[in-house]
Amino acid sequence: MQTTIQQTQFAEDVNTGLSASHKYLNSKYFYDTHGSIIFQKIMHMPEYYLTDCELEIFEKQASGIYEAFRVDHQPFDVVELGAGDGLKTTILLMHIFKKNPKIRYMPIDISNKAVEMITEKLTHEIPGLEVLGKTGDYFEMMEELSRIDKTPKVLLFLGSNIGNFNDGKARSFLGELHAAMNPADKLFIGFDLKKDPRVILDAYNDPHGYTASFNLNLLRRINEELGANFEIMKFRHHEVYDPQTGTAKSYLISLEKQDVRINSLDRVFHFEKWEPVFMEMSQKYDFAMIEKFASGSGFTIEKNFTDSKNYFLNSLWKLK
Ligand code: AVI
Repeated sequence: MQTTIQQTQFAEDVNTGLSASHKYLNSKYFYDTHGSIIFQKIMHMPEYYLTDCELEIFEKQASGIYEAFRVDHQPFDVVELGAGDGLKTTILLMHIFKKNPKIRYMPIDISNKAVEMITEKLTHEIPGLEVLGKTGDYFEMMEELSRIDKTPKVLLFLGSNIGNFNDGKARSFLGELHAAMNPADKLFIGFDLKKDPRVILDAYNDPHGYTASFNLNLLRRINEELGANFEIMKFRHHEVYDPQTGTAKSYLISLEKQDVRINSLDRVFHFEKWEPVFMEMSQKYDFAMIEKFASGSGFTIEKNFTDSKNYFLNSLWKLK
C-alpha cells in the first residue's frame, strides 16, 4: 500500500490517541468514503434535528439572511468551509442567487472529491451560478482568496461543525479565521443550542444504529488503512450528554479484555473490559456562550437567526 503524508499523520494520531491513559480517536477521521455515506444517513434521519432546523432557517428566513449578508450593497462571494453534501447550501444559494445573480460560490474542502461533487451539484442545480471550488487547508485557501481578490466574502461554517472542536480548538479556529478575513468580510456560523437532553440523546443514540456504525467505522478504517485487527463486534457505542456543560460525547466501549495489533505502527494495544475510547464531542450552546465566543475572538454579532423550535441558531458575525 502506498503511504501518503495524510496516512502517516493518521497513523501518528491513532498512535497518540490509543497510547493516552484515557484512550481517544479523532472524529475528523470519521469521514472516509464509507463514513461520509453513513453521515448522509444520519443527516436524513428524523432524530437528527440539526439538519431540518438549519434548513428551516434558510427556507423561512432567506430574505432576512440575504439582506444581512449584503456587504455595503456590493457583489459578494459566498465561501463555504467544509463542502458538506450541499443540500442546505443549495437552498440558501437558490434564494440569494435569485436576488443577486452576481454572487460567486466558493466551496473549500480538504477532500478534492467533496469539492468536485459539490461543484457539480451546485452548477447543475443553480444554472448560471459561478462556482469556484478550492481544495486544501481552510486557512491557506482563504488567505489565497483574500490576497487575489478583494470582493467581500461571507464565510459559511454550517451544521454546528464548530461543536466538534473542544473549547481551545474552537477559539484558535475562530482566531485563525479572523486573521484570514478582510474588514468587509462576514462569518455565518451554525450553532446547535442547548435543549431537552432527551432530544439530544435521541439524535446521537439513534434507534437505527447509524451513529453507532459511524463511530465503529473508524475502527474498520484503521483495520483497512493501517493493517489492524480490531474486531468491531467487541466494541459498543455509548453516548452521554451533560446538560450543565452542554457537551454530548461519544465513546466506544471495549466489551472484553482484548489486544489489538496495528501492523503499520508495529504495536499491540491492550483494552480492558469496559474501557472507553473517547471518539467525538458535539457541543451544544446557549446565547451567552455564543456571545463570549464571538467577542473573545474579535467578532461582533450582527444578527442571529433561529428556527421555530429554538433548537438551532445561525449567527452572522463581523470583525470588531
Ligand atoms: C458534523 N457534526 C456537526 C456532527 C455532530 O452533530 O456533531 C457529526 C455527528 N456525529 C454524530 N452524529 C453526527
